[in-house]
Amino acid sequence: MASRGKWSSHVGFILAAAGSAVGLGNIWRFPYLAGKNGGALFVLIYIACVIVLGLPVMLAELSLGRATGKNAVGAFRAIRPGTKWHWIGYLNVVTAVMVLSFYSVIAGWTLGYFVKTLGGTFKSTGKDDVVAVFSRFIASPGLQLLLLAIFIFLTVSIVSKGVSAGLEKFSKVMMPALFAILILLMVYSLTLPGAERGLAFYLKPDFSEINGRVFLEAMGQAFFSLSLGMGAMLTYGSYLSKKEKLVASAAWVAVIDTSVALLAGFIIFPALFSQNMAPDQGPGLVFAILPVIFGKIPGGTLFGAFFFVMLALAALTSTISLLEIPVSFLIDEKKLTRRRAAWLMGGAALLFGIPSSLSGGSVKFFSRLPAFHIDFLSLWDKVWGNISVSVGSLLIALFVVHVWKTDKALAEISAEGAGFRLARIWILAIKYVCPLLILVVLVSQFI
Ligand code: PFF
Repeated sequence: MASRGKWSSHVGFILAAAGSAVGLGNIWRFPYLAGKNGGALFVLIYIACVIVLGLPVMLAELSLGRATGKNAVGAFRAIRPGTKWHWIGYLNVVTAVMVLSFYSVIAGWTLGYFVKTLGGTFKSTGKDDVVAVFSRFIASPGLQLLLLAIFIFLTVSIVSKGVSAGLEKFSKVMMPALFAILILLMVYSLTLPGAERGLAFYLKPDFSEINGRVFLEAMGQAFFSLSLGMGAMLTYGSYLSKKEKLVASAAWVAVIDTSVALLAGFIIFPALFSQNMAPDQGPGLVFAILPVIFGKIPGGTLFGAFFFVMLALAALTSTISLLEIPVSFLIDEKKLTRRRAAWLMGGAALLFGIPSSLSGGSVKFFSRLPAFHIDFLSLWDKVWGNISVSVGSLLIALFVVHVWKTDKALAEISAEGAGFRLARIWILAIKYVCPLLILVVLVSQFI
């Protein structure tokens, strides 16, 4: 396969892009952020961010990628050579490697939980035991490092094989299966005694809880979950043929991604409230409640194991796209072979992942950073997963509007006769709404 491939079909692209978008962000991160930020209020702001900020930025990235046919750095360079604009691309590449580093730690947890569930650890364990199992698990340094290394190794192996061969095959089977499991789990969770209190938390917004942090975390989560602000959709767009309709593709990805996140909430919160557990436990939330469910349902051992395999696969299609960002940069701009680029960047992610993997109690310093009073993983998640993706999205919007110009973007979006009825609204969004909103939310954090 040539180093710069193309998607083999329309569905292939949507599945791969949705494969990038759907991952731990939907099932691990969305519920924990919603739980921490007042539930329904967060959900409401999140959905608004997906529509008002996410979709416009996604179109900007896809069109920029396809028009230039370049990687996250090369695209900016192709449009404004000899300037510093391609530094946006460097920020994309660095963000992708940093997100990959802590994301792979959580992905390693899904592998560990697959083995634990299959081995019967959660058979009829109560919630206190489940929480204790989790605390012990994240505090085991050797195991954490091993799982991190395994996950990065899996990612590197696939990315070194190339675009359509590696990425597409995967998403085709995984997505529908994951969807089916989530629906089954939701039905079960909704029938638990006390589920209605969880539903109320998830669906009835309490506006008194509104504050700047809710906005930042909902906005960051929208970009993170849609794989925006770090050049992923830009890179994927560069593999896209002119025949594809960008607007329809973007809309599909957003709908699939948001549905999976919302479904996850319908599983987690009813179960959580039925067990009288607190929704604001942070990053461990999903790993503390799902095993409780698997311990209760008939056939929970196998079903739970299957769930964690699917979750690991969903994470893998996301880590693949994360690694693809620096890799396609190194192939195009630095003329490395795909194999070498993949191993190099995988190695970097592994190195940067070490502090995150040791921040669950095994190394005191990383588990509670003196100046920040949080653990390293949570800090990395916030810095790269919230702030950096928001800054990246802001910069891409500014670049498209002020440097590339919206008429060029529009020409790309409506290439080969693809209509774009909402063109005016898109211009309004990318020119004014996105930059202003993102800036206000970011700046408000520092006042
Ligand atoms: N969107 C992924 C998720 O929600 O799990 C995370 C992600 C993957 C972000 C790939 C960015 C990216 F390039």
